[in-house]
Amino acid sequence: MEDSLRLLFVDACLRGGESRTIEVAEHLVKVFCEKKKREGTQVSVERVDLSNGDFKPLNGEDVVFRDSLTREGNYDHRIFDGAKQLARADVLVIAAPCWDLSFPAMLKVYIENMVVYGLTFTTEDDWFKGLCHVDQTFYVSTSGGDISRQQWGLKYIREIAGMLGLGSVKEYMAGRMDIDGENPEGIIQKLKDEISSDFE
Ligand SMILES: Cc1cc2nc3c(=O)[nH]c(=O)nc-3n(C[C@H](O)[C@H](O)[C@H](O)COP(=O)(O)O)c2cc1C
Repeated sequence: MEDSLRLLFVDACLRGGESRTIEVAEHLVKVFCEKKKREGTQVSVERVDLSNGDFKPLNGEDVVFRDSLTREGNYDHRIFDGAKQLARADVLVIAAPCWDLSFPAMLKVYIENMVVYGLTFTTEDDWFKGLCHVDQTFYVSTSGGDISRQQWGLKYIREIAGMLGLGSVKEYMAGRMDIDGENPEGIIQKLKDEISSDFE
């Protein structure tokens, strides 16, 4: 029987078809799946589009309601569907442009909905222990200015990966997309080429 992997593709590129970041991330997913196929592993891709408003920031009432369910170990409610999907994933791809030095708020809202006691994390020795079994997370991002001065989004994703069990985080990032005199198409192509060579 062929091996199989579940890849969860989280799209926080809110400019839709205009987004350069999503072009890179889609390339990554394509070459990743091709490589796995060559190795005899079938990859099923589930995509979460954060522009469709499925996830909302939690307010006080939401937290009380959610806590009442997690305390009972009752995860049947649809508010847990996203976290269950993440808990089933083997590979995670997050695509998010740099907004305001990190990433769009919709990605934080998504993460807020993913951090569910008993489903995606628990606690052990006074700290968090991840319950997800993601082997590898890929973080794809582009920025208008110098990306090396704007690593907070990546750092946060690394910490969340540690908390939830999202494996090691490999980043593919490019900056200077909006600087006069630069060649954004060339920058994107270079990043795609780097990804292609990593998945030969
Ligand atoms: C709301 C907003 C906030 C942004 N904030 C930053 C920023 O803090 N630093 C930066 O270098 N570029 C910033 N940019 C520029 C984007 O990071 C850049 O254009 C990126 O390539 C956009 O990716 P996309 O084509 O996938 O949407 C911002 C753009 C938008 C629309």
